[in-house]
Formats: sequence, structure tokens, C-alpha cells
Amino acid sequence: MSISRPGHQDNKKDATLSTSRIAVKPFPAIRKRITINSTEIQLFARYINDLTGIHIEPSKAYLLETRLGKILEHESCDSFTTFYYKAKADTSKIIEKQIIDAITTNETLFFRDASPFELLKHKILPEVFDKRSNKSVRIWSAACSTGQEVYSIAIILRELLGPVNGTNLKLVGTDISDAAIKQASYGMYNKFEIERGLPRERLQRYFESHGENWKIKDEIRFMTSFNRFNLMGSFAGMGKYDIIFCRNVAIYFTLDDRIKVFNKIADCLEPDGYLIIGSTESLTGVCPRFVPKRHLKSIFYQLR
Ligand SMILES: C[S@@+](CC[C@H](N)C(=O)[O-])C[C@H]1O[C@@H](n2cnc3c(N)ncnc32)[C@H](O)[C@@H]1O
Repeated sequence: MSISRPGHQDNKKDATLSTSRIAVKPFPAIRKRITINSTEIQLFARYINDLTGIHIEPSKAYLLETRLGKILEHESCDSFTTFYYKAKADTSKIIEKQIIDAITTNETLFFRDASPFELLKHKILPEVFDKRSNKSVRIWSAACSTGQEVYSIAIILRELLGPVNGTNLKLVGTDISDAAIKQASYGMYNKFEIERGLPRERLQRYFESHGENWKIKDEIRFMTSFNRFNLMGSFAGMGKYDIIFCRNVAIYFTLDDRIKVFNKIADCLEPDGYLIIGSTESLTGVCPRFVPKRHLKSIFYQLR
């Protein structure tokens, strides 16, 4: 074996070195990735579906392996079966929460799809504030992920109404993921998150820089509140909302679960309230209690 080090004066000498004289650095132990078998896929798919409503196709084994692998290793489990029983037996629910954080797709951005926020600014909010006059207005972003949707709504409210008196407004964001809600409540975003959807002018106006990150200013943050909430659970005690955003979450659910969720949402929408869903979603065949309405390029839903 010859070893050549280009540019090194002593190359010839090196070429005569035998492998036995080379100090071989030990490689760090390469851990074998634990794979998931078809029984375990079924076990986890059912477990995750029961916890979150998220439907995982058997063909998505890689998703379970990649997203849950680190937690499994951290829990020192030697198989997905051991990991499953450890998670089920964990009364603190810490492992369960980690699984939920890992399995949920928290993809979001400020002013996502633009048109719902134009609709909010030019039609929905003026109508709602006119009708409610002195009564408080309640807005809910169900499945708000890391908060960008809620802060986009808050910025629209601030621009429409001026400094907002919190007593006449409830703007709440909820999500099943603890990690997402934690970030949302804190309102801190990295450069990548900030650059997605947020115009420079709004960034300068409503955020302050913290090293490489940006934090939403308190005047906007104080308009909002965030809670952990599972759309698969009971909606008892939720009260009624004037405006509900439920975007890009039901796409992960089965039709049966979508039907249940949108019926529960219908129960907590004011009779003249507004529902906004994702741009690729539809309630046709899901919840006939809602009727789609069009305003310019946007679609929103109201109760029949
Ligand atoms: C793709 S994000 C959508 C965020 C935002 N609504 C948007 O459109 O940009 C989907 C969010 O739904 C949340 N989620 C998934 N299952 C949920 C459930 N059963 N209850 C509440 N939130 C859930 C996830 O944690 C994730 O943050």
C-alpha cells in the first residue's frame, strides 16, 4: 500500500511506509441503527393514531425509524417492541410527549398562503368587530405549531385596530406538541424561520433581534396565549369562537377523524362565525354543517 500526500516534501519517504507503521486512529463505534419490523409498524401506527389522530401508512416505516430512533436510543431500548412497552408503561408521560413532538410535522410560516390574512384584514375582522361592538372577539388557531400563524393574525389585528386592548380580544393558539407550544409562547425565531413569509418591514416593526434570532415584541405577544390541546380529545369547556383557523392539520387524519374534528369545531363556532382551513383542504364530504363561501380569491366556511 502506498500513501501519497500531495504537496508534502517527504512524499517519497511516505510511499515506503508499511501499513503496520501507520498509527490507525480508532473509528468511533458505529452503532447499528435499529430497524422496525412490520408488527412494530402496526403497533406504533395504532399507538400514534390513538394519541394524535395522525395516520401513518405501513409504507412509512422509515418515518418511524428516523423520527423515533433517537428517543429509542436515549431510552436504551434494543428494539421498537421494548420501546413501545416502555413508552406505554411510562406514567410520567415524558416518553409519550417526546414521541408526539417527534412525530408531528410542525411545518409552518408567517402569513402562510397570504390570502387568508387578506381575507381576515379586509372582510372578516371588519365584519366581526362591527357586529360585536363592545363584546369581546374570540379567535382560535387550532394546531398553531410554533406560533407563526397566531402572530400573523396578531399583526393583522394590530395594523387594523392600532394598539389592542387585551380585554376585548382573546387570541389563542393551541397545538398537541409541547415543544411547538413552548416556542410559540416564547416567540423566538431563527433566521430561517424569520425569512419565511415575513416581509422586512414587519420584521423591523414587530420583532427585536436577539443575537442571531428574532423575538416577537411584547406588544404583539401580550395579545396572544398558547395552550397544549389535542384535537382528538373532548372540546368541552372550549366556549364559542368568532373565528377559527384550523389549517394543514386534518390532512394527517383519517376521514373518520376529520369528520369528528370538524363537527366538534362546528360546535364551538359562533352561529355567524368564520372557519378558515388550509388552501389544499376541503370540507366537502367531511362536515355538511359548513357551507363554503368565496371572497375574492379566498374561501372560508360558515355554519348553514
Ligand atoms: C403542518 S402544522 C400546521 C401549522 C399551521 N396551522 C399552518 O398551517 O401553518 C400541523 C400542526 O398540527 C399539530 N397537530 C397534529 N395532530 C394534532 C392534534 N391531534 N391536535 C392538535 N394539534 C395537532 C402538529 O403538532 C403541528 O404543529
